[in-house]
Amino acid sequence: MAKKKQVGYLSAKEARRISKENRKITNEFEKKRKRKNVPESEYLTTMHDPKNAVEFDDLHTYFYTDAGTVKAVDGVSFNVPIGKTVGVVGESGCGKSVTSLSLMQLLQRPQGQVASGEIRLNLGDKAYDVTKAPNSAMQKIRGNVVSMIFQEPMTALNPVFRIGEQIEEVLELHNVDHMTEHQMKERTIELLEMVGIANSEGVYKMFPHELSGGMRQRVVIAMALACNPRVIIADEPTTALDVTIQAQILDLLRNLKDKINSSIMFITHDLGVIAEMADFVVVMYAGRIIERGTAQEIFHHPAHPYTIGLMASKPVVGKDVEKLYSIPGKVPNPINMPNYCYFKDRCEMCVKGCEGAYPKEIKLSETHSVSCYRYYGQKED
Ligand SMILES: Nc1ncnc2c1ncn2[C@@H]1O[C@H](COP(=O)(O)OP(=O)(O)OP(=O)(O)O)[C@@H](O)[C@H]1O
Ligand SMILES: [Mg+2]
Repeated sequence: MAKKKQVGYLSAKEARRISKENRKITNEFEKKRKRKNVPESEYLTTMHDPKNAVEFDDLHTYFYTDAGTVKAVDGVSFNVPIGKTVGVVGESGCGKSVTSLSLMQLLQRPQGQVASGEIRLNLGDKAYDVTKAPNSAMQKIRGNVVSMIFQEPMTALNPVFRIGEQIEEVLELHNVDHMTEHQMKERTIELLEMVGIANSEGVYKMFPHELSGGMRQRVVIAMALACNPRVIIADEPTTALDVTIQAQILDLLRNLKDKINSSIMFITHDLGVIAEMADFVVVMYAGRIIERGTAQEIFHHPAHPYTIGLMASKPVVGKDVEKLYSIPGKVPNPINMPNYCYFKDRCEMCVKGCEGAYPKEIKLSETHSVSCYRYYGQKED
């Protein structure tokens, strides 16, 4: 049989070469991270704007897999201002979770690595570039300065420990105020009440399986809030819940945010949720930000054909349509990204110039910008 080179498949020889190269690259990264006694000066940085809690600056996060390098996040820059909620939207696989895991430094290692870029985290009196911070520094940051609410509460809770114990464990781990056992219990009860659990003394003694899904998510939120974090990452916190509970949890998060003045990075593919929650929105597509703006701008004046498509594929109550719009085609292969606009092959609004290099960001207003050729020459910055 004649040997035919199949497109998209790797020969054993090529695969071996790739995995050998990957090992070399990831070993280098891991060696750096595992160093002991790294002086703080190596990862100290200054915020470009002290009003920001987090600044992602040209972040590139790659997965060095045997099939090739997956550029999961490919040059993402955006800010999370103090006390504000930034919504991150985009379809499945566009790099939303990987962006947030880069901030927590919880990528699947060794293959997942921040290849370049900075993530500046505001600690009040100083700022760290978390991409350069060693494990020891990250351990103090996670849960304490930045905390995360995951999609599925059952995975965040340990089934064999009582609710109270699990929240107290978080408090104990970062016991900055040197609380006594009694104070910790009081604080735990207070947290349970804060997230709207009426029978807080009772729930304190319960196991996770004795609670409903909505209650469990409230407990997870209480755990995330335990140490008054500066930044809360909520990665699809309500997708596992039914709509009425979802609305309650969103209400809760909104009220809590005002109370504790934290910043929230809210990840979802549900545009309705973003409209309710976010002050600013970044729209991601295939590892890059294609549009950003205030929630108002993105909802009332979406500019990128992808955002316009997202809006059109959203059901609207009271609007009678035969069939919901769906964006044709699929996301390009993350290992072999094209050298032109990543959305071009799916775009129904192409203009002259679209076959050129990846479009740069065009400013439409002080806060609104878009990477698309349709706006070239119209509003050049
Ligand atoms: N451990 C891994 N190894 C290889 N590739 C990975 C790994 N984790 C994520 N990726 C890839 O990185 C890209 C971004 O994934 P990510 O989880 O950030 O998507 P997402 O936007 O959060 O999607 P969803 O809405 O489904 O949660 C995807 O192409 C995914 O296949
Ligand atoms: Mg995700």
